[in-house]
Amino acid sequence: MLFSIEVNNNIITAQRGETILECLNRNGIFVPTLCHIEGYSPTGACRICVVEVEGRPDLIPSCSHPVEEWMHIKTHSPRVIRARKAIAEMLLSNHPDDCLFCERNGNCELQKLSIDLNLREKRFTGKKIALKNDYASASIMREPSKCILCGRCIRLCETEQEVAAVDFIGRGNQMTIGTSYNHGLSLKNCHQCGQCILICPTGALSEQQHISKVQDVLHKPNQHLVAQFSPALSASLGENFGLKPGKVADNLIVAALSKIGFSKIFDNGVGCDLNIIENAALLANRIREGETMPLFTSCCPSWVHYAETFHPEILPHLSSVLSPQQIMSVLIKWIYAKEEGWEVEDVYTVGLMPCTAKKYEIIRQEMLMNDLYITDAVLTTRELAKFIRLYGIDINNIEPLLPHQPFHIRSTAAKLFGVSGGVTEAILRTVYYMLTGNECSPLTISELRTSNLSKFYTIQAGKYSVRAAVVSSMHQAEKLLQEIEVGKINLDFVEVMACPGGCINGGGQKIGTRQKELKMRSKSIYDIDERENIRVAHKNPIVTELYQKYFGAPLSQKAIEFLHKRKLEKKLEGNEQIL
Ligand code: SF4
Ligand code: SF4
Ligand code: FES
Repeated sequence: MLFSIEVNNNIITAQRGETILECLNRNGIFVPTLCHIEGYSPTGACRICVVEVEGRPDLIPSCSHPVEEWMHIKTHSPRVIRARKAIAEMLLSNHPDDCLFCERNGNCELQKLSIDLNLREKRFTGKKIALKNDYASASIMREPSKCILCGRCIRLCETEQEVAAVDFIGRGNQMTIGTSYNHGLSLKNCHQCGQCILICPTGALSEQQHISKVQDVLHKPNQHLVAQFSPALSASLGENFGLKPGKVADNLIVAALSKIGFSKIFDNGVGCDLNIIENAALLANRIREGETMPLFTSCCPSWVHYAETFHPEILPHLSSVLSPQQIMSVLIKWIYAKEEGWEVEDVYTVGLMPCTAKKYEIIRQEMLMNDLYITDAVLTTRELAKFIRLYGIDINNIEPLLPHQPFHIRSTAAKLFGVSGGVTEAILRTVYYMLTGNECSPLTISELRTSNLSKFYTIQAGKYSVRAAVVSSMHQAEKLLQEIEVGKINLDFVEVMACPGGCINGGGQKIGTRQKELKMRSKSIYDIDERENIRVAHKNPIVTELYQKYFGAPLSQKAIEFLHKRKLEKKLEGNEQIL
């Protein structure tokens, strides 16, 4: 139901049930917020969003108060502005004041707030609490002294990621954000998805940077610096340089990194295609043998960690196939390098990923091959943008270059890995082929292309029904696991991604991404799939050649040796028939 209210002496339309903040925003009136998260129930913790309501003695937080018919509101009266300034000044009073060196300099909500409120002097100087930085995690770095206690990370981690890896600790002015026993953000519960980085208004949370590691190698003689980029990174990097969201940056990445001095830059599509084929072969075997528990994907390292920590009972059903990043690095170090006559020790592989957890994936114990790391460093989308700027490359004015050979052909199914549902769509295409000997038609599965966090689809492949589910966020994964456990649902295949919407919304992506931009990123990936000719992994000629020359057949001993995880293989003992 619509009604009118008065705001700043103007009449605007309000909707019953919405908050004052929602009503103001819908009418183009901006009120600052800090603790507010869109779609979450409000806590009213920071009070920066206060407004003056005629007849009310106190200022009221607009994010948590419903709009009512009788209201006359002032959003920027002298009293309101005074109150907001005082809140911001208190937050800044014990802030470290090292904005120039902060990861979020220029993209910090606290900085923006002080600019918007025209704060020009430091009136209060609070006692600075010496809080140690937390470097315990392979992917996430915490700087608690920059925390403004908005609580956003706590709510997100608990509700979306299910783990509550961080919480308020201490009381009064000693209160801070910490971990269990204040032991650092360890692997005990945090699965390193990086979603908390995206939601943090300040520089209190950021990724563990690999930029200097890569720089060190760049200037070393006799080192071959080889990069590979993922589909979701390619569809979002351009936004960091003012390009249209979803603009596919494959050729710009190759051009930029070639100028910087990388030896080779590959699209990791061949890695995706091999992942599709090996997973499809695992799934086809399970279906033919009538196994009941579904096969779970393993390309999201956050999900793998969550399953290992909280659901060890499903590990025998977790795919043993390496992620596309790791497959690609195996190809680079143990196949391509040999063909080039390079010593494998002289090859340094860099994953360009939308994901913070990939930094953890590369140092997992089973990710060593012949005592060498398969992938040596990971740059997130944010780090890659910084890296390109650091080397003075004007991405808007460079001549694009095609991804390097010999991994220059990929299917469009490989590109679908960037979006939640895409891995399933890609694998179902190949599994259909494996089960029937025919190509499935149509190839597009629109049911898996919605922005829902939980999606289901059954494909009839000859005499077999293949029942698939797709979930993104650990909350949705947990809900589905419980349904599977109580027998409410029977499935053959489950795709899980920790980041809502998949890698296009990964923890390493641009901070401040809006829903509209996410849609444009996925649209550009779907457009590639509709536009190009090779739409299934098993038709990629480079992949066919790799099987002919090196791996023999999907799930062959050689394929297992190169394309599957060692540790998980062991856990598959007793299930050898799958292979
Ligand atoms: S990285 Fe993910 S799991 Fe870890 S604290 Fe942040 S939101 Fe929670
Ligand atoms: S770490 Fe960031 S998101 Fe979490 S409470 Fe502090 S400022 Fe808020
Ligand atoms: S944004 Fe409303 S109280 Fe924090």
